[in-house]
Amino acid sequence: MQDLSTLLEDRLRSATAAAFGNEHAAVDPLIRPAGNPRFGDFQANLAMALGKVLGQPPRQVAEAIVGKLDRAGLLSDVSLGGPGFINLAIDPAVLAHHAGAMLADGDGGVPQADKPQTVVVDYSSPNVAKEMHVGHLRSTVIGDALVRTLEAVGHTVIRQNHLGDWGTQFGMLIQSLLDQGFDPEAGASAGELTTLYKAAKQRFDDDPAFNAQARERVVKLQAGDAETLAVWRSLVAQSNTYFETIYGRMGVKLGRADVRGESFYNERLAAVVDRLEQGGHLQESQGARVVFPQGFNDRDGAPLPMIVQKSDGGYLYATTDLAAAVFRVDELKAGRVIYVIGLPQRQHFQMFSTTLRQCGWVNDAVRLDYVGFGSVLGPDKKMFKTRSGETVRLVDLLDEAEKRAAGAIAEKNPDLPADEAAAVAKAVGMGSLKYADLSGDRVKDYVFDWDRMLALDGNTAPYLLYSYARIRSIFRKGEIDFDGFMGDGIAVEEPAERGLVLQLLQFGATVASVAESLEPHRLCNYLYELATRYHRFFEACPVLKSEGEQRDARLALCKLTALTLERGLGLLGIDVVERM
Ligand code: ARG
Repeated sequence: MQDLSTLLEDRLRSATAAAFGNEHAAVDPLIRPAGNPRFGDFQANLAMALGKVLGQPPRQVAEAIVGKLDRAGLLSDVSLGGPGFINLAIDPAVLAHHAGAMLADGDGGVPQADKPQTVVVDYSSPNVAKEMHVGHLRSTVIGDALVRTLEAVGHTVIRQNHLGDWGTQFGMLIQSLLDQGFDPEAGASAGELTTLYKAAKQRFDDDPAFNAQARERVVKLQAGDAETLAVWRSLVAQSNTYFETIYGRMGVKLGRADVRGESFYNERLAAVVDRLEQGGHLQESQGARVVFPQGFNDRDGAPLPMIVQKSDGGYLYATTDLAAAVFRVDELKAGRVIYVIGLPQRQHFQMFSTTLRQCGWVNDAVRLDYVGFGSVLGPDKKMFKTRSGETVRLVDLLDEAEKRAAGAIAEKNPDLPADEAAAVAKAVGMGSLKYADLSGDRVKDYVFDWDRMLALDGNTAPYLLYSYARIRSIFRKGEIDFDGFMGDGIAVEEPAERGLVLQLLQFGATVASVAESLEPHRLCNYLYELATRYHRFFEACPVLKSEGEQRDARLALCKLTALTLERGLGLLGIDVVERM
């Protein structure tokens, strides 16, 4: 079923063409939800721009369009406002019909993409032999929400976990492990590796003999030396097991099959540099081989090079990203590649993507999107650190989220059976952590604040989860089977019902806008407004105490709200609970 905005757009385009000729049939009617319900449900704002084109006063343009507007079976009222706004009120029967169809429809009215694409999403991408930290939280949570959303609108998503599993740092780590008689079969835990890594780095900086050995070790790793590779493989396997535990706990859609780390591209790097050379894109700079992406200058205005091969022959992070992009476009057949990487790496992205374009390796038909995000800050508004000044480990955040949620649940609902309470705590804890990350504009930094993210009111996960649970409790109280209940249509009589239905009907358009803009906070804002309007409806319109058809219609509205909350939260990677 077509969503309301599309229907309105079609009507306004036809009216515009009828009033001013077919050459204006493609105009964007600029349909927006009305700011104030007194002026209808939607506004069409095209008259201002069209007035300029036609050289006529916008108000007159708006009048002419309204004169030709077909209202049948859609609009109950049309009026003019301000300099030329067209206010549109939808016929309540049409609203009721659309809401009923949305309840019957299995996918909740999410419009499917006109041109489904293969979309590669590069996210999470932690580093082997290191623990995941708070910085990886954002990439993992935002990437997961985008993957779910893109799939919901009908794209084929290929997840890529671009693991940092290769590079010079492995030389020092493997060397120091071998010095200590490390047994690749036995392995080491993520925590042990982190400690070891720090010690190895220290030795690398302080001890010239070790430094030389570590460098040799890198050469051995590159050359495929058996002993070196055995240690490396053990580290990778160990880390993957550790990452999988974390993804499992977080309910993130990333598995072993999605891992394609930097090492995968190792054997393609020489070809990347050759190809740059053959295309005449390569230059020498202080012994290194570099490219100059157009439009990048250093502070003095000199062109900024991107190094692809060091003077010692070693390749770089950027070389790997060039190889990865070519692989994704040529072999994975991506029509769009999305990089969910923190803002400190923005310039890196811009430089390699500019290079890909200027070399003609990725043409304009393929979209490369950078999904940058700000940092997580501590209460002091500085980078979020532990008390002792260390980076915050992701596992510690997961543990604490569940612990705090469990405390809150025990206080609020002490009668929940223990196993249910534990499941609820997990959902609320994980949900709160994710929602706090997703609900702000992602390019902004945000202050990590347990009390705020776990609060039962405001734009938080607990508020939304609680709204869902409250609806489920109505069905329990009325002894009505939630899943089985279909009702017999939805009615739109009271203003609060109208407000709620209008919001419900915006769900599909909101999901589509997230898939386009890659901004999950739009969905968060939508869900918050939905829950708020639901509570307004619940205050104004008795449900279980109403009777007959009205009771059924209101129950149906409750159910549709619950399903929409569940679907929306699901797209954010958040599970609902029936009670809390
Ligand atoms: N491993 C990197 C880090 O932890 C992130 C990799 C992002 N993806 C990419 N294609 N560069 O910072």
